[in-house]
Amino acid sequence: MKISGLSQACENNKEPILAQLEHMFAHTNTVLEIGSGTGQHALHFAPRLPHLIWQPSDLAYNHALINEVISYAKSGNIASPLALDLAEPWPVERVDGIFTANTLHIVSTDLVVSFFAGVAKHLATNGVLCIYGPFNYQGEYTSASNAQFDAHLRARDPQSGIRDQGWVVELANTAGLELKADVAMPANNRLLHFVRR
Ligand SMILES: C[S@@+](CC[C@H](N)C(=O)[O-])C[C@H]1O[C@@H](n2cnc3c(N)ncnc32)[C@H](O)[C@@H]1O
Repeated sequence: MKISGLSQACENNKEPILAQLEHMFAHTNTVLEIGSGTGQHALHFAPRLPHLIWQPSDLAYNHALINEVISYAKSGNIASPLALDLAEPWPVERVDGIFTANTLHIVSTDLVVSFFAGVAKHLATNGVLCIYGPFNYQGEYTSASNAQFDAHLRARDPQSGIRDQGWVVELANTAGLELKADVAMPANNRLLHFVRR
């Protein structure tokens, strides 16, 4: 695939994430991905999760790249990207899976709260939510590199930054979800697996 603007981090993390999603989304019919970015995760995951439909979404300006990347898909289970801005109502009805990678530390604190309002509204009972990215625990960084990354994020946008796992779990609980697993991933990232009660 010779496309400019691809993410090396996505290339590095896609296989370890998929190894987890194969179990977590084993009984899921449709996964709505929030903040698909380049579409590389969609392209990698969908053919290996052939029982489900992968629905990418992002701000509209990312759609040209996502469409270009997913045009390389050899499986027919990736939908065209939806324009989904966390600041607006979501253009979906009910889904039984939601995935997001590396978004909660990019968007503002208010939009993290909006994300969970959207999850509460659109995730079906027994639906699965998986969130990948870096997290803090009791306000502590899990590595020096995460501390540096957080400083970089906050210098660029004071509303962004690595979130505390406890706060995210609290928002999820309020939205009616239960934490099933918090999996350590390479490069000091985590994969949080929730189920809607
Ligand atoms: C760091 S990128 C992560 C992309 C991809 N998921 C990955 O792991 O490489 C953050 C993503 O959040 C998206 N994003 C930023 N603000 C958003 C918003 N208000 N609503 C939805 N997505 C947003 C960006 O467009 C971008 O694709």
